[in-house]
Amino acid sequence: MARIYVTREIVGEALSCLRALHEVEVWPGPGSPPRAALLAAVADADGLLAVLTERIDAELIEAAPRLRAIANYGVGYDNIDIEAARARGIAVGNTPDVLTEATADLAFALLLACARHLVEARAAVAAGHWGTWEPAGWLGLDVHGATLGIVGLGRIGRAVARRAAGFAMTVLATRATPLDELLERSDFVSLHCPLTPQTRHLIDASALARMKPTAILVNTARGGIVDQAALVEALWAGRIAGAALDVTDPEPPRPGDPLLAAPNLIVLPHIGSATRTARAEMTAVAVENLIAALDGRPMPHAVV
Ligand code: DGY
Repeated sequence: MARIYVTREIVGEALSCLRALHEVEVWPGPGSPPRAALLAAVADADGLLAVLTERIDAELIEAAPRLRAIANYGVGYDNIDIEAARARGIAVGNTPDVLTEATADLAFALLLACARHLVEARAAVAAGHWGTWEPAGWLGLDVHGATLGIVGLGRIGRAVARRAAGFAMTVLATRATPLDELLERSDFVSLHCPLTPQTRHLIDASALARMKPTAILVNTARGGIVDQAALVEALWAGRIAGAALDVTDPEPPRPGDPLLAAPNLIVLPHIGSATRTARAEMTAVAVENLIAALDGRPMPHAVV
């Protein structure tokens, strides 16, 4: 029987399969375990089920001499020092596929909400500012027939492209179209690449300057892909029409972060995969990964 540490209460039934086979300890919350508690908890852990807010770095791996398997609860794994895990022979897995459609739904919801000012219009109604029907009120952008640029045509990017087909959009993707050209031609730009040293601040001031002044940026990938200071400046200067972010850097933004006061911006609290089904299936995949690795088999969804 192995010892497994789970860093959050997670959704779904699958954790009971893990409990049937191994000794499982779950951090009761609220939120993440403080760093010291996490380091202490992994000291005798054979397996770790972690969420994206936990930094699984070389220090943590060194503090976990028995650790053989890390199952990340999410498809992105930029919170894990993959090289440090590899060097110790620790298996690392993620949860792709099961959250693809939920995340693509949210990307499209953000695109529509930003294009048609849904958040501001709803706030105006709630504040009693709905005077009368106005011919020039709340004018937004056409989504139907517009051009959508997808940066990162992986599983989620392709799922967004499928939704765009229903809106008769022209889809450009970085696989076939150079980024600069994609930025210049797109009415909407949606980010779906992983955060790596190469993609950090991929959307910086010069990338934003290439976008049309009428264009909207959507980010459901990772906050670090966008240079947020440059985005705030571009929004105030009207260099792009709006942005909708499900992810920020850091998360949450610190109180007083200029991002929170920027115009034509929607910020959500990283809810791309937050459907009951997706989250329960993420648990199932993370558990399958752990059980396999602790049994000496390859993880079904291995990244190392
Ligand atoms: C992921 O899986 O990487 C998401 O950001 C969280 O669902």
